[in-house]
Amino acid sequence: MEVIETRIDTSSEDYKENYEAMQDLVEDLENKLETAINERSDKARARLKEQNKLPVRKRLEILLDRNTPFLELAPLAAKDMYDKKVHGAGIVTGIGVVEGREVIIHANDSMIKGGTVYPMGVKKGIRTQTIAMENRLPIIYLVDSGGAFLPLQSEIFPDADDGGRIFYNQAVISKMGIPQICGVMGLCTAGAAYIPAMSDDVVHVKNTGAIFLGGPPLVLAATGEEVTADELGGANVHCRESGVSDYFAEDDTHCIEIIRQIVKNLPPAKKTDIGLKEPRPPLYDPKEIYGIVPKSLSTPYDVREVIARMVDGSEFLEFKALYGPTLVCGWAHIHGYPVGILGNNGVLFSDSSLKATQFIQLCDKREIPLLFLQNINGYIIGKEYERIGITKDGHKMVNAVSTATVPKFTVIIGASFGAGNYGMCGRAYSPRFLWMWPNAQIGVMGGEQAADVMITVKNDQLAREGQPPLPEEIAKQIKEPIMTSALREGNAYYSTANMWDDGVLDPAKTRDVLGLAISAALNAPIRDDVYGFGTFRM
Ligand code: COA
Repeated sequence: MEVIETRIDTSSEDYKENYEAMQDLVEDLENKLETAINERSDKARARLKEQNKLPVRKRLEILLDRNTPFLELAPLAAKDMYDKKVHGAGIVTGIGVVEGREVIIHANDSMIKGGTVYPMGVKKGIRTQTIAMENRLPIIYLVDSGGAFLPLQSEIFPDADDGGRIFYNQAVISKMGIPQICGVMGLCTAGAAYIPAMSDDVVHVKNTGAIFLGGPPLVLAATGEEVTADELGGANVHCRESGVSDYFAEDDTHCIEIIRQIVKNLPPAKKTDIGLKEPRPPLYDPKEIYGIVPKSLSTPYDVREVIARMVDGSEFLEFKALYGPTLVCGWAHIHGYPVGILGNNGVLFSDSSLKATQFIQLCDKREIPLLFLQNINGYIIGKEYERIGITKDGHKMVNAVSTATVPKFTVIIGASFGAGNYGMCGRAYSPRFLWMWPNAQIGVMGGEQAADVMITVKNDQLAREGQPPLPEEIAKQIKEPIMTSALREGNAYYSTANMWDDGVLDPAKTRDVLGLAISAALNAPIRDDVYGFGTFRM
């Protein structure tokens, strides 16, 4: 296959400046992750020790096979929300290897407000289950939770995508035959009691683990009965009397040992074979991406230089290289897996949209996963382009992206604006996974454009009333807050806090993350749905 020849001069001033800027962003990302992992109060640490429980990350370390990767998802969920201390929404979620089997893990962090579930925790739980369903990954729940975070109960409880959905999903997952294994490693109170109840296998830790619909304080208040948590729903009650739990564990380590044995006993995974090749590193160092991606999103660059640092041997068979040049499409391998890549090299025109549509159809027919590298300001606008049908050509691309049945993966490597987000497989288009780079921005449009639109609307209104346009000073006062909020809310960290993505990635590690994600996706049949597309408007 053809090798991408780089045109990057690593000694240029631009390269060095870009490199430093991206390095700063990556360091900042690492600091944020470090805080999310480690910032816990002394009180919470002491309480955990007193209860003889292991910290959540220690539990994961014992659960996962040694020297295997753990693909953590949404580690910065709920960042800066609530009291700014609900790191990762109080839950650690990720894909890891247990007894040689890829599984997804959902583990409460009881050092964050007793492991209670915040609104973003519900969202993270549902996302974990969606990933399990789409990729047919067994789920391991390590429950240690006081149930709903009561001060925010109205945001957690009543709606279709609130807490009840988690238990509904558990029933659906069970019906799909996807194993669900639950370790009761602390309290499973109220709603959290349904996690073990709805699981296939329940391992219950003596003394610390308890399951009940109403805890001792509620029982006392409601019935006047005085009981301890252990008497009410401990391992002895549920393993010997009620039958709610299946396996009795002496402590956390024993519980995890039993979970590992349960995974070992599962029938083997039937992974889809899509023709794995011997994985090879790219010819160029992935870290060079730091120097390639410009500091400003509005500075153009060639996405092939990024592709060259992501794919095996930097080999890329480019499709229709001379047609629709603002979108680069082509075939490559990542960690040995075949992928069809679409990367933006400017705004989308009719020709680039048609090229994308054809390319997506080919990949879908050939059962090749799709990778979207999003850096897009939108589809071209203007009279000339409307006349030649940019809207119907954009529609074809959006239609193809929506109905393609092979696994899709999206990385937002720069801008993600307007319908460009849709055509390039934004979150609403069900990529199996979606990540952002720390420089990325997302929104309907950039802040400056949005502010200009609002001023134009206002001035048109004034003109209709026969009044002069807004004085510059007033226009500035209107524009400023729009621009400030667009910048803040379009930022990669605002996105990841809200779980519009599965995490913010170091560009240099993107290739490895994609390799793990594609591997996880192959636990499901290559396509779940019937091959075919909607009607293309011609
Ligand atoms: N909602 C909001 N905050 C809660 C909470 C809940 N359901 N349960 C506990 N918390 C908070 C506590 O106020 C405390 O906050 P602080 O650190 O700011 O003081 C923190 O979580 C830890 O609780 P604490 O009781 O000190 O820790 P613990 O390890 O001894 O026990 C629980 C943790 C969750 C088992 C225990 O607090 C409990 O039983 N909570 C009530 C559970 C319940 O009835 N939930 C019903 C939900 S539907």
